[in-house]
Amino acid sequence: MAERTLIIIKPDGIQRQVSGQIISRLERRGFKLIGAKFLHINEELANELYSVHRGKPFLSGLVRFISSSPSLVMVWEADGIIEIFRTMMGATFGCNAETGTIRGDFSCGKRFNLVHGSDSSESARREIAIFFRPNELVNYDLSNAHWIYGEND
Ligand code: RTP
Ligand code: MG
Repeated sequence: MAERTLIIIKPDGIQRQVSGQIISRLERRGFKLIGAKFLHINEELANELYSVHRGKPFLSGLVRFISSSPSLVMVWEADGIIEIFRTMMGATFGCNAETGTIRGDFSCGKRFNLVHGSDSSESARREIAIFFRPNELVNYDLSNAHWIYGEND
């Protein structure tokens, strides 16, 4: 099975109405969408998502931001997607992110950085399970997969 990752368009991405532009980048890279939920992430879910940051000084501000307005929570699949998408997101703070990355093209501040992407396969498994039951992830063939991967050699 190809690798999966959790990608979230955070409250600033929804409020700034750039979700379509972000999703376009995922589609044109050849990623396959296998799950999506539009929801207001509450404080409890935000604390669970960011449990690795427990005890850090920025956690309360981060939780306040993530639970301030709705987000689009998605699972996407592709060979090597976790690392590829981390590169596409750019550095954590928009002010440090390279132009050409999502954060570098759409933001210039700090915490309000538009997107979340899992940082390892372990994190992806844990984070996906917070938002999706296994039967909510849709299995199907992307009809152009051959034209994305070729013989994958
Ligand atoms: P994310 O988890 O949201 O995909 O972002 P990331 O991996 O690039 O960054 P991470 O270190 O996991 O931090 C999670 C979110 O916390 C905020 N943050 N603030 N020093 C700080 O003030 C600080 N460090 C991180 C950011 O909003 C970041 O997205
Ligand atoms: Mg992170």
